[in-house]
Amino acid sequence: MSERREEAILKFSSIVAGYGDTMVLKGINGEVAAGSVLGVFGSNGVGKSTLMRALTGVIQPASGKVTVNGSELGKVPSHQRRRLGVSYAPQERVVFDNLSVSDNLTLGFRSRSLEAYDDLFRVFPRLKERLFQPAGKLSGGEKKLLSFARIIAERSPLTLIDEPSEGVQHENLERMASIIRARIAEGAAFVVVEQNLTFLTSIADHLIGLDHGEVVLSGDSVDMSRDRLEAVLAV
Ligand SMILES: Nc1ncnc2c1ncn2[C@@H]1O[C@H](COP(=O)(O)OP(=O)(O)OP(=O)(O)O)[C@@H](O)[C@H]1O
Ligand SMILES: [Mg+2]
Repeated sequence: MSERREEAILKFSSIVAGYGDTMVLKGINGEVAAGSVLGVFGSNGVGKSTLMRALTGVIQPASGKVTVNGSELGKVPSHQRRRLGVSYAPQERVVFDNLSVSDNLTLGFRSRSLEAYDDLFRVFPRLKERLFQPAGKLSGGEKKLLSFARIIAERSPLTLIDEPSEGVQHENLERMASIIRARIAEGAAFVVVEQNLTFLTSIADHLIGLDHGEVVLSGDSVDMSRDRLEAVLAV
């Protein structure tokens, strides 16, 4: 690991956010540099997905600041946010069930042909086999792979993925992890929400553990014992 600290591509400070009058996040800070992964973990309902929504502008934080490459997210009109180079794969609504796998991979992108997925099809041959079936017929884990392939092919400088491992079998998790590590080596940055600690610690450089909308553990993942991580989930 290099001594020099990279300038953060994403910074967030004092994020307070929620729904209506109910604040879920009570002041969250963090950052992620190019070429690194920030892992976010915590039990069900602690606010992980809410944090992802606040960081991508899907919900407007009540207070606090999100900065992407020096631009304050709240000040960038939503139609211009794509230019910031941020991709987001939400936990739910992962694919369009009525569209074929192929259309899920290509529609909505100005110049995206299936060739962009050659590498990913080699890693996940199941997706290629099912290209012309409706995505709705895929299993939950296969839908997660489809969503993962789609977001990875965007090759964004910053990618946020909410629980990619849900329902995905072990060997495909290892493949996801190596794809993320390869993108990291090219300088991409990721924020990954996960409850699977084995998967998360295999990719994350830094970790933040959430409980009831607050950061209860934060630091470099090499410094964190499994016991400390599991204690956050056991609350
Ligand atoms: N759209 C919404 N409207 C109102 N409340 C919401 C909404 N989404 C989430 N919440 C509430 O906010 C809190 C945090 O939810 P969130 O989805 O951020 O948790 P999470 O950590 O992602 O949980 P999980 O591990 O189950 O995905 C919960 O109490 C939840 O009920
Ligand atoms: Mg969630």
